[in-house]
Amino acid sequence: MNDRNRHPDNNRPRRGPSGAGSEGPSDGRLVEVHSQLSRDKDEPAEGFSLTPIFIVFLFCGFGFWAGLYLTQNSGNFAPSAFDLNAPKAAVAGGPVAFEPDAAKGEKLFLANCAACHQATGLGVPGAFPPLAKSAWVAGSEERVIKAILAGLAGEIEVNGVKYNGNMPNIGAGLKDAQIAHIATYVRQAWGNTAEPVMDTKVAEVRKAIGNRAQYIPADLLKEHPLETK
Ligand code: HEC
Repeated sequence: MNDRNRHPDNNRPRRGPSGAGSEGPSDGRLVEVHSQLSRDKDEPAEGFSLTPIFIVFLFCGFGFWAGLYLTQNSGNFAPSAFDLNAPKAAVAGGPVAFEPDAAKGEKLFLANCAACHQATGLGVPGAFPPLAKSAWVAGSEERVIKAILAGLAGEIEVNGVKYNGNMPNIGAGLKDAQIAHIATYVRQAWGNTAEPVMDTKVAEVRKAIGNRAQYIPADLLKEHPLETK
C-alpha cells in the first residue's frame, strides 16, 4: 500500500501514549482499527485482476454451443443464396452440376499429356502419336477414357502411321472430373470436333475396368472399333 492511499487520519501528528485529555482514539486503538481494516479488506491490486478461469470456460463453452447451433440450424444458408448468377444446385445446397470445361482441360492436358503428345497435339514422329485429327480420339468417348485410365502399350496405327510405344496409366492419378475435362479438350482442340465428356461417364468406365493393366491397342479396338467416316 502506498502513502497516498492511507486514511488522512493516519497522518495526523501522534498524541501522547495515554491519550488523556485529547480527543480522538488512542494510538493503540488506531493500530487495532487499522489491523482490523487490513484484515477485512483486500489490498488494492495494480492492473486488472485475472478473470476467474470458470468464466473463461463458460464463454468458450457458449461459443462452441453457438457454433454447433448455427451449423445445425442455419437452413443451408450460404453466401451464394444472394448471388443471382450462382448455379441453382448450389443455392439448394446440393452438389454443383458438372460442366465439361475445355479451358480447364487444356491446363490439365499441358500438365499431364503435353510432355509426350506436345501442346500442338501433333506428337513426336516415331515416338508419340498425334491426337490432332486422330480417329482414336473422335467417336467413342469410352475409347479415349480407357486409354487415359489404363494406358496403352504395343503397336498402334494413328492416321496411317505406325508407332510402338508405351503410354502409362496417367488417369489412375486423376479425378473423374479432371479426366472428363481433358477428354473434352482433346476431342475439341486442334480441329477435332467430337462431343464433350461427362465425369459420370468417366466414373462408369473406371468402375468397369477397375485396376486393369495397359491396353494393347488391338484389344482396345476390339472393344471400340474406330468409327468409319
Ligand atoms: C509418357 C508419354 C505419354 C503421356 C504423358 C501421355 N501419352 Fe498418350 N500416348 C503415348 C504413347 C507412346 C502412345 C501410343 C501407345 C502405343 O504405342 O501403344 C499414346 C497414345 C495415346 C492415344 C491413342 C493414340 C492417338 O494418338 O490418338 C490417346 C488418345 C492418348 N495417348 C491420349 C493421351 C492423353 C489424353 C494423355 C494425358 C492424360 C496422354 N495421352 C498422356 C504417350 C503418352
